Amino acid sequence: MPQFDVLIIGSGLAGLSLALKLADRKKVAVITKKTLLEGASTWAQGGIATVLAPDDTLAEHIQDTMIAGAGLCDEAATRYVVEHAKPALDWLIAQGVPFTRDPGNSNGYHLTREGGHSHRRIIHAADATGMAVQETIAARVQAHPNITLLEYYIAVDLITGKRLGHTDNRCLGAYALNCLSDEVVTIAAHDTILATGGTGKVYLYTTNPDTATGDGIAMGWRAGCRVSNMEFIQFHPTCLFHPHAKSFLISEAVRGEGGLLKLPDGNRFMPWHDERAELAPRDVVARAIDFEMKKRGLDCVYLDISHKPEAFLKEHFPTIHARCLALGIDITQQPIPVVPAAHYSCGGIMTDLHGRTDVDNLYAVGETACTGLHGANRLASNSLLECLVFADAAAHDILGKAPIALPALPPWDESRVTDADEAVVISHNWAELRRFMWDYVGIVRTTKRLQRAQHRIQLLHEEINEYYTNFHVTSDLLELRNLVLSADLIVQSALARHESRGLHYSKDYPDTLPQAVPTVLEPYNYRAI
Ligand code: FAD
Ligand code: SIN
Repeated sequence: MPQFDVLIIGSGLAGLSLALKLADRKKVAVITKKTLLEGASTWAQGGIATVLAPDDTLAEHIQDTMIAGAGLCDEAATRYVVEHAKPALDWLIAQGVPFTRDPGNSNGYHLTREGGHSHRRIIHAADATGMAVQETIAARVQAHPNITLLEYYIAVDLITGKRLGHTDNRCLGAYALNCLSDEVVTIAAHDTILATGGTGKVYLYTTNPDTATGDGIAMGWRAGCRVSNMEFIQFHPTCLFHPHAKSFLISEAVRGEGGLLKLPDGNRFMPWHDERAELAPRDVVARAIDFEMKKRGLDCVYLDISHKPEAFLKEHFPTIHARCLALGIDITQQPIPVVPAAHYSCGGIMTDLHGRTDVDNLYAVGETACTGLHGANRLASNSLLECLVFADAAAHDILGKAPIALPALPPWDESRVTDADEAVVISHNWAELRRFMWDYVGIVRTTKRLQRAQHRIQLLHEEINEYYTNFHVTSDLLELRNLVLSADLIVQSALARHESRGLHYSKDYPDTLPQAVPTVLEPYNYRAI
């Protein structure tokens, strides 16, 4: 049985930065279900929000975050993240991340702008910030002698005291499927970190990579953690609309640098919806696009930045320019067809300011966690920042504790299962889930639609559970099981909110209540799923 001081599940920015912060003093394992660089962090485009401009202030970054969050941001968490942003960024710069420079700025870096930000505040590496950050950090992780990297290992479930019949519910490690050998291994660890990212794949259309299947949220919930604010799924307003482009984002920085949203006839429509027009927070822009598309029966709207000089566009948006050109769209000459798509999960496993969950020795960091920072709608480019700040907080907490001895852990029990007879059950249910979540639990919701979704989720859950109990586990089955549970948590939370706020808009409850209250689901008071 492999044993480590710390087991980190996930190799996005949250997982890798935490691994590096621990590795000089701890023996760390990082498991990741595909290759090291597969995950949302590598796909990040716009950048990292940090107060760097001389006329900007921490107070304004806090205020912008709370306004975007529609009154639901936790003030202490927001203050904590914003106040720790500069040291977090300095750490990244010290690792060697090649952020785009601008000698004209006193800080030496180019800062771009995104919706909801009152200042230019986004430090970036052209339009591929995530790739620049992840490649730099991954190289350091790979070179560190105290870090064991296990690619193609998908965590199945956490091993907790409760699961083993102990009186305490401490986390003792995890079971993980080696996807190359089909064996489930037991990994013991004094501390375990969920850094598994978001749950975008629960929707038919998403900007997210295939890894975003809500695994951490589902594992944490099954282990006894509370989840919060799951109804607040952020739909990014501008995902490329093209039959051959799967999940390609057109960064909000395109609007930040002057891109205009237009109808097919060339008219702008955002000024009709909000005085901040294209730079309104994402919930407002995504809802406006959804409204115009539904009203006019459109397949997409258009994002036009062709009025900017060609050299500027090629310098600032080289990835977007090249990808669009490969699909026959020249962004220097013509508008880009775009649609909203599921982008970010503002809710997740509830954590405190140290990244601790309700289960002892279990932490959650990054998109899988709900720290309270994002409230009802995340401010653009606050997510990579949250990964860095809470990875640092969790590292401090772990390094400050004395390890407790680990008991012997039982191996994974496969004595009562056989090979699955009909894999089509998995692919069919996967497609069905994503389609009805898109249709019934999307940008605009009604109680009736949510109830329809809930009914179907219950049926899927029964089928998947039967499969899980009787057959050998596969990565597809594990991901679907987690997606169904994540969908259930989203729908439960949406049904519990009797108002419209931020990303949750219900036609049955169009008003915003005077008091903002987070939605908290407790695993032990909840019907079994
Ligand atoms: P991820 O980077 O998604 O990493 C999760 C990791 O966990 C992956 O390695 C995955 O394989 C692994 N994993 C998952 N489940 C398991 C399992 N069961 N077992 C083992 N491994 C598992 N935010 C910003 O702040 N700025 C931006 O510019 C920005 N741009 C974005 C652009 C796109 C296209 C997308 C999709 C998101 C963007 N975001 C941006 C959001 C941000 O990228 C993510 O919220 C953030 O990267 C999440 O980091 P993470 O480490 O939590 O998760
Ligand atoms: C983008 O570049 O538009 C994504 C930024 C984010 O999601 O924070």
